[in-house]
Amino acid sequence: MAANTRREFLKQAAIGAAALAAYPPPSVLGSNDRVRVGMIGVGDRGEDLLKQVLQVPNAQLVAIADVYTRRREAAKQMAPGIQTMDDHRRLLDMKDIDGVIVASPLHIHARHFVDTIKAGKHLYCEKTMTWSIPEAEECLATAKKSDRVVQIGLQRESSGSLADTRKWIKDGLAGRITQVESWMSRNTAHGKGQWVRPVPSDCTAQNVDWKAFLDGRPDHGFDPYKFINWRLFWEFSGGNITENMVHQIAWIQTALDLPEPSAACMSGGIFSEKDGREVPDTIVVTLEFPEDVVVTWQSTFNNSHYGLGERLLGSDGTIEHVSGATDMVTGRSPETIRYCPEKVNRPEGIVLTGASKNQNHMANWIDCICCRQTPNASVDIGYRSAIAAHMANIAYREKRRVTLAEAKAAVPQS
Ligand SMILES: NC(=O)c1ccc[n+]([C@@H]2O[C@H](COP(=O)([O-])OP(=O)(O)OC[C@H]3O[C@@H](n4cnc5c(N)ncnc54)[C@H](O)[C@@H]3O)[C@@H](O)[C@H]2O)c1
Repeated sequence: MAANTRREFLKQAAIGAAALAAYPPPSVLGSNDRVRVGMIGVGDRGEDLLKQVLQVPNAQLVAIADVYTRRREAAKQMAPGIQTMDDHRRLLDMKDIDGVIVASPLHIHARHFVDTIKAGKHLYCEKTMTWSIPEAEECLATAKKSDRVVQIGLQRESSGSLADTRKWIKDGLAGRITQVESWMSRNTAHGKGQWVRPVPSDCTAQNVDWKAFLDGRPDHGFDPYKFINWRLFWEFSGGNITENMVHQIAWIQTALDLPEPSAACMSGGIFSEKDGREVPDTIVVTLEFPEDVVVTWQSTFNNSHYGLGERLLGSDGTIEHVSGATDMVTGRSPETIRYCPEKVNRPEGIVLTGASKNQNHMANWIDCICCRQTPNASVDIGYRSAIAAHMANIAYREKRRVTLAEAKAAVPQS
């Protein structure tokens, strides 16, 4: 959010949070009831989530809100009979909606998060939870003051690999883990920019509510390239840190039960995608955590050979999770999770391969609404992983090591 808008948003959110107790409670659902769902922002990811929610037997999609006519029409084709609208506040006014899925661009997550909770709805909010640290604080506080079920779109929190890792750590097989290496590598075809999407001919000022997209940011006139390719610009995005690192850092934080980092460093730059974007394509991050753990994450858009993975290095064993470059989105890449003993400390130890199944992350949210339980990717891991992501980006932009206290005090930069 732009500074003025952000101040206004935080002020309104503070008033809203104080008034939460006065909001109407959501409809009371039993374990056999169908959960009526709305969606805000049905672009590429929203279409995936729309398909997912249609597959959940005890959920019913009733309405979507999107600022772009093309997206509303596409959603209607996929789910005939739903209502469509441009303004998310109209959707939140609908009394018969129990839960809302937010898959809008990053810079508007906080607005949609807070508005949804204030309207008394349960929430599934795509990662990264927010665009900035102050917004993450506000969203956490708002969620904590309500009894609404919040799931963050960190679907790896529902993975079998995480369940296996947690069990091996709990059983003491890894011993003392002091270091975690993680990486994510992708390649880009010559002549094409990673993430760059063509602008459809109907992406015009008539068909897009540009002001609603900007949500108070300075208006320099309708820019269809930025509207479609918002990921490339700091004003709307946190780059690959908030797009992909956040998935892996959340997984590592949950596996090791880690809080926010105590400090972050980040190097890299725009080395391969020289197309006018602002966010780096080549990245090395170091995150220091209390209790003597350091985590590294490195990423490129220029080579995909090593795919994506995490290695947890312990005194008694190594846990290695490896998968292909696009597995988080498609689920189609090969994936392995293995434990290898350190013979010096576990001479009798044997290599283990994980066998736990992935849970359906969307169904987990719907089930938790019915049973009033905490979902796999609660607001807490949404918050901790968002803080880690923003600390890395602040360190990169300020070109220095940044502590947690410094990051919390920093003014978010567009
Ligand atoms: N969990 C995952 O694996 C995963 C994968 C991809 C993307 N994502 C996340 O999903 C989110 C959306 O990404 P995307 O690639 O679908 O982007 P997108 O640009 O394709 O879709 C965003 C949609 O939001 C709409 N929109 C913009 N402003 C709006 C507003 N004020 N109100 C309502 N609708 C609005 C746009 O018209 C568009 O249809 C991002 O936060 C991204 O990080 C998550």
